[in-house]
Amino acid sequence: MREYNVAILGATGAVGTRLIEQLEKSSIPVKAVKLLASKRSAGKVLQFNGQDVVVEEATPESFDDVDIVLASAGGAASKKFLPEAVKRGAVAVDNTSAFRMDPEVPLVVPEVNEKAIYDHKGIIANPNCSTIQMVVALKPIEDVAGLKQVIVSTYQAGSGAGQTAIAELDHQAQQHLNGEKMTADIFPVKSAKKHYPLAYNLLPQIDVFEEDGSTHEEWKMVHETKKIMEGDMNSDAVKVNATCVRVPVVIGHGESVFFEVEDSSKLTPAKVKELMQNGAGITLQDDPDNQIYPQPINAEGSTQTFVGRIREDQENPGSYNMWVVSDNLLKGAAANTVQIAEKLVEHDLVRVPAEYYGK
Ligand code: A2P
Repeated sequence: MREYNVAILGATGAVGTRLIEQLEKSSIPVKAVKLLASKRSAGKVLQFNGQDVVVEEATPESFDDVDIVLASAGGAASKKFLPEAVKRGAVAVDNTSAFRMDPEVPLVVPEVNEKAIYDHKGIIANPNCSTIQMVVALKPIEDVAGLKQVIVSTYQAGSGAGQTAIAELDHQAQQHLNGEKMTADIFPVKSAKKHYPLAYNLLPQIDVFEEDGSTHEEWKMVHETKKIMEGDMNSDAVKVNATCVRVPVVIGHGESVFFEVEDSSKLTPAKVKELMQNGAGITLQDDPDNQIYPQPINAEGSTQTFVGRIREDQENPGSYNMWVVSDNLLKGAAANTVQIAEKLVEHDLVRVPAEYYGK
């Protein structure tokens, strides 16, 4: 049996530490693991399967002899290092947005478009966290009744902005409880001119603004959904509209999803519930009589996508609302990334086509 040398780029981060855990739990036969981060973390000791592993500063040479790269160190690091890794024969699964819209790069959620991995040329992109949990929930609906339109409002946890953002949220809450003025250096966007507290607040800005007034996070949800579900980032087969809001939750994104189907005769609320009950990667939590519905606090630590509050829009027959929650650091990031790597191993796709290797 082939065994693999695996490198985790960004191993000390909020997603990186979970990549280590997910890799430990995965079916991938790991020969050796390399934990890479910036110079700041070089020398730090982390564990893989109970063994100490010293974190190394990432350099192009770090990827010599690596078979699989799992990357979550920000877009700039992915752009810098992943082509170097592919040049050396490694296959990379990238959790950043650096390559997601490259037509040569498959954007994959295994429950939805697993087959897209067959076309990879060395890099496979992991979608945005908020997109992943939505398309997992929408896939069984699309298969049965077709999708005409999706309108989503997100309630996104602070951890999506990384480890330092989690610390900032905790610090703001402590400042507030101490009666001090809350300070902010990271939210809503580290590189932005202004910063606002997230604790005891809501921020309707995730990522930078586009010219049309939407945010880049909203743009990502629209175009990534189309690329994953329809195979084309600009497909007009389904209309998608997103409003993305950061909420003072540490882990677990919530989404209010409205969808209109092509063939309303195929669905009833009971049928939607049945589809969710049987859907890949989905756990149905929908029992209003007993106040059962998905909550971030219960989703934390699980790789499932939780769906509840399913109801037909009484004003628009054939349209439905549902509430979708998942751990943004797991199914939204580390778990989906490792799942893609498992599929690459399962289908013997851990190899870079000759025309790309050494380019
Ligand atoms: P470091 O811990 O050395 O800063 P998060 O998403 O939680 O903010 O984590 C980001 C991860 O990406 C961390 O592991 C961080 O390492 C790593 N990282 C950031 N910039 C680089 C870089 N230029 N090269 C390699 N790793 C990087």
